[in-house]
Amino acid sequence: MYFASDNSSGVAPEILAAVTAANPGYAPSYGTDPVMDRVRARIRDLFEAPEAAVYLVATGTAANALSLAVLVEPWQTVYCHRLAHIEQDECGAPEFFTGGAKLVLVDGENAKMTPETLRARIAATRKGDVHGVQRGAVSITNVTELGSVYSADELRALTGVAREYGLPVHLDGARFANAVVATGASPAELSWKSGVDVLSFGGTKNGCMGVEAVVIFDPRRAWEFELRRKRGAHLFSKHRYLSAQMDAYLTDGLWLSLAGRANAMADRLKAGLATVPGAAITHPADANVIFAAWPRALHRHALGAGARYYQVPGDPDPEGPDDAVIGARLVTSWSTTEEDVDRFLALIRGQD
Ligand SMILES: Cc1ncc(COP(=O)(O)O)c(C=O)c1O
Repeated sequence: MYFASDNSSGVAPEILAAVTAANPGYAPSYGTDPVMDRVRARIRDLFEAPEAAVYLVATGTAANALSLAVLVEPWQTVYCHRLAHIEQDECGAPEFFTGGAKLVLVDGENAKMTPETLRARIAATRKGDVHGVQRGAVSITNVTELGSVYSADELRALTGVAREYGLPVHLDGARFANAVVATGASPAELSWKSGVDVLSFGGTKNGCMGVEAVVIFDPRRAWEFELRRKRGAHLFSKHRYLSAQMDAYLTDGLWLSLAGRANAMADRLKAGLATVPGAAITHPADANVIFAAWPRALHRHALGAGARYYQVPGDPDPEGPDDAVIGARLVTSWSTTEEDVDRFLALIRGQD
């Protein structure tokens, strides 16, 4: 009953086996290993983007911050949702790696920007005024931080606004696989065909040990990325272990089946929660992240019985009134089982 985060899950056996298989003997370092050639070809194929540049890093923060660094100048802006991971959870790494670009926060329900809220923020940036920052890039997260998912149409509407102003677009796809499964759209439709220029393509949350791909659809930005990755201390020397993870992740559609399992377990959890008296889903839970709320007494009961998840907006006073309704964030992963979900639902129903 571990729903704190999908990065609390272990490594999928196929990926662990691939890391072990990559171990014997010697391999060229720094991303020149032959498995990386295969990864590059596979990602280009998957995304229908034969020209795309592909790089691996070990964290989502590195993927995001380095991606943004090739899209903006230090005196420019990055438009993102107020709840974006790059704003809330990366300790200023995007600002650091871009040399000081300014994150400009955009509103919107359920952690989604809208064309209107985005356009208003871009329009309010004073172009050509030396006293103000200049318009830079747009960064979108899919799956969003509140568990909603942008459809390809919604993405196109947002990137269309970026294009009106000539701005490039980054997509934080830490949970890109879950978004692909949720929408049924192809990887290309949820990225470059919808106007995304650079994608952080997540692996870690979905069964890898620690690898994210950066997919740069305009290869003219590739060399700068390489230099920034090295200068930013994110070029792995024993890169073959990153390559092996990503290679296994993409083999036989493993990345989709892992995300499919996570999303299916979230659906089961959602359906169960809908029948629990006093519980409510508080945001559209389109993939594997659910925000819900129920009375404190049931939180106490579930947590006391060993369930693990975050209460939102933070751990409330455990001594407060039993009937106060308190939020929860529940994240399922590739390794969540039906038994985990059913046992958890029984606890939230007040059963033992
Ligand atoms: C939306 C989103 N982006 C990026 C990340 C990557 O984070 P990390 O640097 O911890 O791998 C996370 C992880 O929580 C996330 O939820």
